[in-house]
Amino acid sequence: MIYPIVRFGNPVLEKPAAPITVFDDELKTLVDDMFESMYEAHGVGLAAPQIGISKRLAVIDVTFKEDPDAKLVLVNPQVIHKEGKQAQSEGCLSVPDFRESVTRAKKVTIRAQDVNGKWYEKTGEDLLARAFLHEIDHLDGKLYISHISALKRDLIKRKIRKLVKLGDW
Ligand code: NI
Repeated sequence: MIYPIVRFGNPVLEKPAAPITVFDDELKTLVDDMFESMYEAHGVGLAAPQIGISKRLAVIDVTFKEDPDAKLVLVNPQVIHKEGKQAQSEGCLSVPDFRESVTRAKKVTIRAQDVNGKWYEKTGEDLLARAFLHEIDHLDGKLYISHISALKRDLIKRKIRKLVKLGDW
């Protein structure tokens, strides 16, 4: 099933998500649905709050279907190491049609559980490092626009308010 993506303005995006404690068939279905919803929306990462589910779960595929091994399920993820710096243009499916340069760590190691509850560690560089940090931010109720200047953020918010008025958001 394809879920609609929740947009900026919905409070679910700005509250910390709850840990996942049950690893059952329902979770497996949710993970499949999240990959499907992410691909449908042309994204390379999707966090559960973005489909209105306030749980600590995200999916990532920075290859966008090119490499099946690149499909990552992050349950209850934590950042355990960060190093270096990279500045790149970043966007979010919940803030569509906006992009801003965001400086983040270049290399990031996370610890997370897979869909069966097994803990694993994974190190990502460049886009994958960025995706780890972006998606884990979502689980903490944080959007990428919290990392840009207040001036740029207010400009985006103003434009979004206009779109909301027009019924285009
Ligand atoms: Ni996002």
